[in-house]
Amino acid sequence: MAEEIKKEAPPKMKVTIDNISVEVDPGTTILQAARLIGGDVTPPAMCFYTPLKGSGGKCRTCLVEVSKGSEKDPRPMPKLVASCRTGVMDGMEVKSVTSPRVLDARAGVVEFLLLNHPLDCPICDQAGECHLQDLSYEHGKEGTRYEFKRRTFKKHNLGQYIQLHMTRCILCYRCVFTADQVTNKRSHGVLDRGDHAEIATYIEKSLDNDFIGNVIDVCPVGALTDKTFRFKNRVWFTKPEDAHRDCDKCCGKVTLWKRGDEVLRVTARKDQWGEIMNTEEGKTGWICNECRFEKKDVKDWVIEGPTKVARHSVIGANHYEVLDKPEETVAKVMGGRQPKLLLDIHNISDVNDPSVDLSKIKGPATGAVFNKTKLIQEKENNN
Ligand code: SF4
Ligand code: FES
Repeated sequence: MAEEIKKEAPPKMKVTIDNISVEVDPGTTILQAARLIGGDVTPPAMCFYTPLKGSGGKCRTCLVEVSKGSEKDPRPMPKLVASCRTGVMDGMEVKSVTSPRVLDARAGVVEFLLLNHPLDCPICDQAGECHLQDLSYEHGKEGTRYEFKRRTFKKHNLGQYIQLHMTRCILCYRCVFTADQVTNKRSHGVLDRGDHAEIATYIEKSLDNDFIGNVIDVCPVGALTDKTFRFKNRVWFTKPEDAHRDCDKCCGKVTLWKRGDEVLRVTARKDQWGEIMNTEEGKTGWICNECRFEKKDVKDWVIEGPTKVARHSVIGANHYEVLDKPEETVAKVMGGRQPKLLLDIHNISDVNDPSVDLSKIKGPATGAVFNKTKLIQEKENNN
């Protein structure tokens, strides 16, 4: 009888990042090892995305300094390396936030990424959950040395569900890998090269595969956004809740972004790195277009409870259940009189009409939608 060959697990490798040591399996990258440590040590990553094969190596935001190559060869690496693409060696020593070279390089990369960026956060649906916004706050500098006109692109229509704002794109390729690896047919990609490179379909085409909505979740910036959520709300006014439904196409496990009882947006569930989480079966929790775009009624879902939001995130604002609120003192100082509202926003603004159910509006919530409702109401009142 053939002898059973037992494979021994390869020995772990010790890597030290910013003076904190961690033991990892061979094949682990510096970024993954840093994520095991967590906190400020972890380099930012704009193009690497764990569930996508081949991602990383494009944006250079994850640069780190290797001050000791390994136990066997302790020479430092002469240049900064992309931590998402560099594997650890036993005895390696890495500097992330403790290296002035790294901090300077990151600030330079942020400046580069923002060269042509429109900086339109006040009207961008991604504001509040944008990785480029976080990156520039945490690692960027105040000013820019760029004096030229920013790039603009011809507008491409990607169909009824996905809005493309090419001027916000940082060419991370995540959406291209997603379309390649998650859908059975990719219709978009990066066209042209260098300064002209852009995300587009070759011949004006809509992206309509059943799983194509996932490109919205992987996009780190506001280049690809959900048309069914456009301009309906700022993300920090919504309450994310975990929910699920029986779906025959996908895992059906989602985050509902609610305002009151209205479901304004549905996304896949994401972890602390902004990557789509695995399901209990160990598969990536990609969701289908039907769950994402068509199921906007609370009755469609089984609500599990509030989504855990990182404490520093603007989305978590006002959502702490155990928060000690300051005492309401207005009535006290006004001799028992309740404060009188000087301005009722619903009377002033057409776009704050509480009778309009935002979750039922197909397209973006523009003034036209509200004016139309107003006209219908006026007609009904006259009849
Ligand atoms: S559209 Fe978004 S996901 Fe696609 S390459 Fe640009 S930034 Fe990356
Ligand atoms: S995350 Fe490493 S190069 Fe982009």
